[in-house]
Amino acid sequence: MAAPEKLSGIVTSFLDVVHDRLITDTRGAVADYIPQLAEADPNLFGIALCGLNGHVYESGDTDVDFTVQSASKPFVYSLALDDRGLDAVHARVGAEPSGEAFNSVKLEAGTGRPPNPMVNAGAIVTTSLVRGESSEERFARILARLSAFAGRDLSVDEAVFDSERESGDRNRALAYLMHSAGSLAAPVTETLDTYFRQCSVLVTARDLAVMGATLSNGGVNPVTNERVTSAETCQHVMTIMATCGMYDYAGEWLLRAGLPAKSGVAGGLVASSPGEFGLGLFSPRLDASGASVRGVVAAQRLATRFGLHVL
Ligand code: DON
Repeated sequence: MAAPEKLSGIVTSFLDVVHDRLITDTRGAVADYIPQLAEADPNLFGIALCGLNGHVYESGDTDVDFTVQSASKPFVYSLALDDRGLDAVHARVGAEPSGEAFNSVKLEAGTGRPPNPMVNAGAIVTTSLVRGESSEERFARILARLSAFAGRDLSVDEAVFDSERESGDRNRALAYLMHSAGSLAAPVTETLDTYFRQCSVLVTARDLAVMGATLSNGGVNPVTNERVTSAETCQHVMTIMATCGMYDYAGEWLLRAGLPAKSGVAGGLVASSPGEFGLGLFSPRLDASGASVRGVVAAQRLATRFGLHVL
């Protein structure tokens, strides 16, 4: 086995190679259905990998802020699980891949349950299940959980929050449908504001790597050494990420990268290699499933190079 410094050099230079090769890949388009996201610089590209010893290897734009968007969903799901337990959460949201887009209106006939906690409908339900006396307290607990996973105090991009709230009719329609069916048992407007706010939390690729590594490490943040959640919760979260985290690309993703992962429409991607490390990627141009084009390719190359496929 190589000495730690040597290993560190090998990992960093491999990240640089992947970064330099993919920087010329300009496929995809920046999300514009939330107007504020269209302002992003499409050329940004960062790759970060956090080992379970807390060391973070980085290449490119790993300290540039962007909104976490759907990459928040696994971490808020962890909080709902800790607050309510697996059975109570899944009485209201399924655990099956939908095979459909992130904003799909597919709900279970009869119950109105959304397919899983990674699509928008399911995430709106898991957000509503986080405990709190008020929506302020509920969001404060969500922000604290995301911050604990990242190992630093995170904050909200208010301009993205406003933009998302103004353009959020599809999520509003989903929430009303679920409310009328009884699967969303909380006030629609308040729940959506909390969900939009959670999506508007600012992170970096480095943060996502640390967040992914915390899941890989059984719930202990490897940088701060703080226990954020239980190993059991991490197992549940990574299972749902593996089966549903990449939406209608989840099957092919697992085939090629073999890692639990979650994408976000601002171009973030978080992946966890259980017992090994966390990966954080950021590049704003997206593919048809709403995942970062460069992020997906970079993660697949890293998984192949380091033999990370979990199966
Ligand atoms: O609710 C939305 O549409 C966004 N706030 C999040 C969607 C998202 O990130 C989809 N993932 N790739």
